[in-house]
Amino acid sequence: MKYRMISILCAVSAAAVCACSGGEIEPIEENRPPEPERSVTRLVGISMPNRAQERWERDAGLLEENFRKGGFDVKVEYSSDDPAIQSESLRSMIDEGAIMLVISAVDMDSLSEVLDIADEKDIPVVAYDRFLMGSDAVDYYVSYDNEAVGRLQAQCIVDKLGLEDAEGRHFTLEIFSGDISDLNAESVYKGAMSVLDNYIDSGVLQIPSGRRSPEDTMIKNWDADTARNSLQGILSAYYEGKDAPDAVLCPNDTVASGAVAALENTYGSFDTIVTGQDADEENLAMIKDGRQTMTVYKSSRNEAAAAYELCISVLNDQKPDEKMIEAAGWDFECYYNGEGYDNGRKDVPAFLLRPVSINSDNIESELVEKGHAEMDDSGNVRTVE
Ligand code: BGC
Repeated sequence: MKYRMISILCAVSAAAVCACSGGEIEPIEENRPPEPERSVTRLVGISMPNRAQERWERDAGLLEENFRKGGFDVKVEYSSDDPAIQSESLRSMIDEGAIMLVISAVDMDSLSEVLDIADEKDIPVVAYDRFLMGSDAVDYYVSYDNEAVGRLQAQCIVDKLGLEDAEGRHFTLEIFSGDISDLNAESVYKGAMSVLDNYIDSGVLQIPSGRRSPEDTMIKNWDADTARNSLQGILSAYYEGKDAPDAVLCPNDTVASGAVAALENTYGSFDTIVTGQDADEENLAMIKDGRQTMTVYKSSRNEAAAAYELCISVLNDQKPDEKMIEAAGWDFECYYNGEGYDNGRKDVPAFLLRPVSINSDNIESELVEKGHAEMDDSGNVRTVE
């Protein structure tokens, strides 16, 4: 049975009622050592992977704002993409009496030991955006539909190159995927490949470097410099004296930034289709000036709102499901996957939000007009979540 702050509060008041109500009260064992005092804090621990990608500070800020408004104390920590740092900081949050942990893991497999401690202490755990493997402690997972992210990226390539009507034409493609210690990387890749595989198998899309599997295409920590060096190496080895690739599938915006830097360095200007994810400010600017083709927008505000609602429900000892979504009446799409995601120890039920494809034609209608971003007089777009 998980420790829930509210259950503890109820238990405390129930005991008080019992002591004063004149019912049969068990004699107090005089010599019994006093129970160690367990302070009931209102501390929520929020653990993020890094500050390298713009989104994590944004997400942490919004989560913190929600919890503080709800009267909770909050501790936010970043992990410099180091699983050991993340594990240590979670351990200290537990020692400080955290009643809830919201975690975006650096490495989905590396936290089972510290999560076991959370489990022993009945501290509820919500996997935020990134999944957590190998622990019974994980209560829920809230994220975007990551396969849909990959499908949107791939569909942009299909549409822009006109692959459905290729009529004997061939196009070149290079593939990048995210860090495989993050399940999202696999899901985004899977979604993209569900759209691209047929075109690659039939030869409409050709991959000069031959890199196709998640292992061959992965960029450690989704890092921009690693992506730039990798594409630079591919361009020198396989594109010498040839046109730039027709498309570079990039799983997120930091990888896209690296890819664009390598393309610029080699070709100056280019008309390669470059995909992304996150709508980082630098990348929105690149989309506006035509150096990146698209990104996938996943509102942090909506994700943090869903996570907060979920946490409150869990702390109230409820078992949130689709009814929570109905009751919340959000103006964004979210669905409940009750079968859950198998983390090797249990099926973790999930709440998944719907991502949106952004290109130069819909930046204004999807981001500015819907209040997710502002555009200044010079046309620069700034996210305002
Ligand atoms: C997130 C992406 C992010 C990537 C790198 C993924 O887990 O879903 O939004 O770009 O990690 O931080």
